[in-house]
Amino acid sequence: MIPAHGGRLIDRMVPDARRAELEALAAKSPRLVLNSREVSDLEMLGTGAMSPLEGFMGQADLDSVVTDCRLANGIVWPLPVTLSAKGGTWAPGTWVTLADEAGHVLGLIEVSEVYAYDRDKEAQGALGTADKAHPGVQYLDSLGDSKYVGGTVHVLALPQYDFANDRRLTPRETRVLFKAKGWKTVVAFQTRNPIHRAHEYLTKCALEIVDGLLIHPLVGDTKGDDIPAKVRMDCYNALLAKYYPTERVALAVYPQAMRYAGPREAIFHALLRKNYGCTHFIVGRDHAGVGSYYGTYDAQKIFENFSTAEIGIEPLMFEHAFWDKKAGAMASDKTSAAKGPEDKIFLSGTKVRDMLRNGERPPVEFTRPEVADILIASMASKASV
Ligand code: ADX
Repeated sequence: MIPAHGGRLIDRMVPDARRAELEALAAKSPRLVLNSREVSDLEMLGTGAMSPLEGFMGQADLDSVVTDCRLANGIVWPLPVTLSAKGGTWAPGTWVTLADEAGHVLGLIEVSEVYAYDRDKEAQGALGTADKAHPGVQYLDSLGDSKYVGGTVHVLALPQYDFANDRRLTPRETRVLFKAKGWKTVVAFQTRNPIHRAHEYLTKCALEIVDGLLIHPLVGDTKGDDIPAKVRMDCYNALLAKYYPTERVALAVYPQAMRYAGPREAIFHALLRKNYGCTHFIVGRDHAGVGSYYGTYDAQKIFENFSTAEIGIEPLMFEHAFWDKKAGAMASDKTSAAKGPEDKIFLSGTKVRDMLRNGERPPVEFTRPEVADILIASMASKASV
């Protein structure tokens, strides 16, 4: 089985032997309320999805990540994983209880430092822009002048969700699953969208060369106009039931918030899927992009900055896929004789949203009807609220 990033799959879940002691400590320690992105990150720190991280970043790691795309110890790590102090100031060594906004206690952090960091520098380094219209910059702005708290975490409880509870597999659980299925090579597919025909094409091309496919949709925070995760899960299930070889496919959720960091997030998504036991990772057109902040293939080119050994998981790069009218099949410029837009079926996200909102199915060359119908129904029920 492929080793975790950094060599060892971290486990920050509190073991039974320490549960009573740490629950008692959590009941009397100062409390910090996490926002939803931080809750997702805490979950992924707990399960080892963020290996080799054992907690929220201190200043040396954050600075090294922002400027060099590496942790202070040199291991490749592209994005900040930080916890905002929200006005709290605690001396190093203090234990602080971590709770969600509903008041559920999730764990504790053993504080190593509370520090200020330059938000513009962070945005410019991690996201490649400090433009206030970028959703990742808006997240940083939402933190105000809050400092960050660094330290090791101890997770007492994973967050509770009201959907996809049968699809919430930790890295340990996906590794057990792959082993049970006898898959030696597994490709992960990250998505924040319903699976349209282009996505389906990439996953099936990849399935031609590996043993198994992990469809691993991101279900943490996304922008307001992205389709809610709960609705997407219905789309994935409908699609898998009819169009995929189910014995060669696993569907599990990736409980992280989107950063919309384009190239750096492609590396992030790949490394974390390695922690889940995947050997290959799909990177297509404008991976994790938003607006026009990143070039179409920047998220593929960034992999050239690192050696194969330090990434460890193999990226499978795909060019822009479309329906080729002449061939009557999905294709890309690598495989198609199509010359101009008149030979291709391509719809913008805005156009698709408008069609769905009007109760209209996009062409079958763009989206399977089963998926379109779920999206149309969800938009209609949203409109009637
Ligand atoms: S992302 O934010 O998760 O990257 P999305 O769900 O749209 O967004 O994409 C999932 C994966 O499919 C990404 O690797 C992306 O690059 C790829 N992708 C999406 N659409 C296409 C397309 N038409 N051609 C090639 N790759 C695509």
